[in-house]
Amino acid sequence: MLKKIIKSEKECQLLGSSLASKFEPGDVVSLEGDLGSGKTTFVKGILKALNYKYDVTSPTFTLINEYDADLKVVHIDFYRESNIKRWVEIGIDEYLYSDNLVIIEWGNMIEEVLPDDIIRIYFEHIDLNRRKVFSNYESFSN
Ligand SMILES: Nc1ncnc2c1ncn2[C@@H]1O[C@H](COP(=O)(O)OP(=O)(O)O)[C@@H](O)[C@H]1O
Ligand SMILES: [Mg+2]
Repeated sequence: MLKKIIKSEKECQLLGSSLASKFEPGDVVSLEGDLGSGKTTFVKGILKALNYKYDVTSPTFTLINEYDADLKVVHIDFYRESNIKRWVEIGIDEYLYSDNLVIIEWGNMIEEVLPDDIIRIYFEHIDLNRRKVFSNYESFSN
C-alpha cells in the first residue's frame, strides 16, 4: 500500500487536486474512513482541479451530488442509506457503470454493488490535523 501523511485540510485538498488529472472517465473511487477523516475535503480538491466553480458539499443527505466540471463527477455517500435495495431503486448501477468519474464516500458499507476494478483510498485520523491516507491505486504515489 502507498501511504501519505497529510498535515492540514489544505494538504488534503491538494492531494485530491493532484489525483484529479490521473482519474479517467468511468473510474469509480471509494473513499473509506471515519467521520471527519477528510473524505469530503479530498473531493473538494478534486473538483477544484477540475475547474468546478461552485460549492461542493457532502451528499450525506442528498445521497448523490452531480457536478458539471471538466469531467462530469458523481459524488455519492452511502453513509445514511445502508439498505442496498434502496440504492438499487435509485438506479445505482447506472451511476456506477457510466462515463463519469464516480466518487463514493463509505463505499465499503455496500460492497455488493461496487465494481471489481474500484479504486480505494483509505483515510485515518492520527490527531487533530494529521491524517494517514493510503491506497493501492498506482498513481497515488506520483
Ligand atoms: N489533514 C486533514 N485532512 C483533512 N481534513 C482535516 C485535516 N485536518 C483537519 N481536518 C478537518 O477535518 C474535517 C474533515 O471533514 P470531512 O472532509 O467532511 O470528513 P469526512 O467526509 O471524512 O467525514 C474538516 O473539518 C477539516 O477541516
Ligand atoms: Mg464526508
